[in-house]
Amino acid sequence: MQRLARGWQRAGVRVGFVPTMGYLHAGHLSLVRRARRIAGREGRVVVSIYVNPTQFGPTEDLSRYPRDLARDSSLCREAGVDVLFVPDDKQMYPCGEGAGFSTYVVEEELAGRMEGESRPTHFRGVTTVVAKLLNMVLPDTAVFGAKDWQQAAIVQRMVRDLNFPVRIEVAATWRESDGLAMSSRNKYLTGDLRRQALVLWHSIQAVRAQVSRSQKPLPAARLKARVKALVALEPEARLDYVEFFEPKTLVPMARVGRGAHMALAVYIGTTRLIDNARL
Ligand code: PAJ
Repeated sequence: MQRLARGWQRAGVRVGFVPTMGYLHAGHLSLVRRARRIAGREGRVVVSIYVNPTQFGPTEDLSRYPRDLARDSSLCREAGVDVLFVPDDKQMYPCGEGAGFSTYVVEEELAGRMEGESRPTHFRGVTTVVAKLLNMVLPDTAVFGAKDWQQAAIVQRMVRDLNFPVRIEVAATWRESDGLAMSSRNKYLTGDLRRQALVLWHSIQAVRAQVSRSQKPLPAARLKARVKALVALEPEARLDYVEFFEPKTLVPMARVGRGAHMALAVYIGTTRLIDNARL
């Protein structure tokens, strides 16, 4: 991959990159279209598929994470992707006597909040694998989804702090027609769980309406209680966290007005879903 990328770089070919864990959906494909617009017809678009073990906690869904490489690869072909890069575990994290993997990238300010509190080693895995992928693909621009707002903010911080010669673009969240944010994990939502999963989007809309009706910023604690109560109405839903924060720095806000950002994580049965939006 790196040899190919160096050739493009020498020839002045622009490269747009979309890192993913596969099981592609319309949200991923919107990032691919954005990468194509950036790279241009003469440029190259690279998509990577790698279910990165270091970003999953010991009790998380690594082994059952949905995979369908045949389908993903035809979707990429239809979308005009030039290179589908699918490294394996041995290539990404070599192991063995004296030849193991032992270097990680850790962002120390943004990664401790929200997702980081519930998943303490998650972002260390994300920043490490994204750093590796950027070094392999050497893109001019890499595209991330707003669906994972905190992830995009942390990647932007890493790229700035460590002088990666790449632009990070963040593309809007794609939703199903009823508002559920598209996610590979939606596959786990069988039966009534699919309906209950709407509580994330409905909570965002309820808070947004309340904030826009109010003349002055509202106490975050009151809005959090409202979301907790909404989630409690669904029999199999459990709120992990809800936070209101400044969208760039992720600093929590005690009072919430228009333009603040909201993010939440909710278990629907055993499936953990996240969503976020600007209010
Ligand atoms: P994955 O969950 O496969 O997501 C790949 C990219 O697609 C991420 O940038 C994510 O934010 C974006 N994405 C997911 N759902 C989306 C939606 N509904 N609308 C718009 N964009 C969406 O995020 C990861 O993989 C991994 O952490 C990765 C960055 C690949 C590192 O392993």
